[in-house]
Amino acid sequence: MWARLADGRCGRGLPSSLGEIGKRSRKGFSMSLGHRWRFLKGYLSNPHRVGAFAPSSQALAAALCEPYRRCEQPARVLEVGAGTGAITRHLGALLSDHDELHVCEIGSEFADILEREVLTRNDFAPAVGAGRVKLFRSAIQDLPQDGSYDFIISGLPLNAFELEDVRKIFSIFRRSLKPEGVFSYFEYMGLRRTARWLSIGHRRQRIRSVSTYLTSNIRNHQYDRRIVLSNFPPARARYLRFDD
Ligand SMILES: C[S@@+](CC[C@H](N)C(=O)[O-])C[C@H]1O[C@@H](n2cnc3c(N)ncnc32)[C@H](O)[C@@H]1O
Repeated sequence: MWARLADGRCGRGLPSSLGEIGKRSRKGFSMSLGHRWRFLKGYLSNPHRVGAFAPSSQALAAALCEPYRRCEQPARVLEVGAGTGAITRHLGALLSDHDELHVCEIGSEFADILEREVLTRNDFAPAVGAGRVKLFRSAIQDLPQDGSYDFIISGLPLNAFELEDVRKIFSIFRRSLKPEGVFSYFEYMGLRRTARWLSIGHRRQRIRSVSTYLTSNIRNHQYDRRIVLSNFPPARARYLRFDD
């Protein structure tokens, strides 16, 4: 479905190396202080649901979108947990003529930002005009699942969730992807280990069980990953396929 091109050329419009993307982000779509502040406010009012105090960097957004960027055919993409749109903006620059993008965000204030300030950007205009972009203001758990996505890109803070919710979300992702579809997500480096050390009682048990579940999925389904040291905190983008 998507091809790795040996010479580093890509299927879609943006440069391929993270260094180049960094340059582009400084010129093009860097996050404003206002967005960062509103993200932090969202975190302070609901830390477990937001799970991070700063939005993803453009380098991390680029790493998460890498499999989609390399895809040369029209694709259906689902972004889950879009927040203030750090990854969504990057997706906007990659959308080509027949692609469809669905964006899912549970927080109403974040969804307002996406609707008013992100999906109104010029990059999205042709796709929005043609009805190929949709914003779902809901939990991923409430979205219809029809196995129709080529790519799912998640910003969900899985390590902050209960095991039962993580299992449910993984099964939704599996059912929502086409057989060869790719699921990308990220984790902050060392977070699981540090959180386990620093916690006690039920919290420690929760982190341990979520970590075991994630490790088993990584072992069975991850086919590649990228380390993004320039993100704060440094993060690992993971790429999984559930086709086996
Ligand atoms: C760590 S933030 C990521 C934001 C953004 N993608 C980024 O990378 O900067 C996680 C986001 O997931 C959203 N979220 C949490 N649980 C969700 C759910 N069940 N369904 C949809 N979105 C959810 C939160 O509101 C928050 O915006």
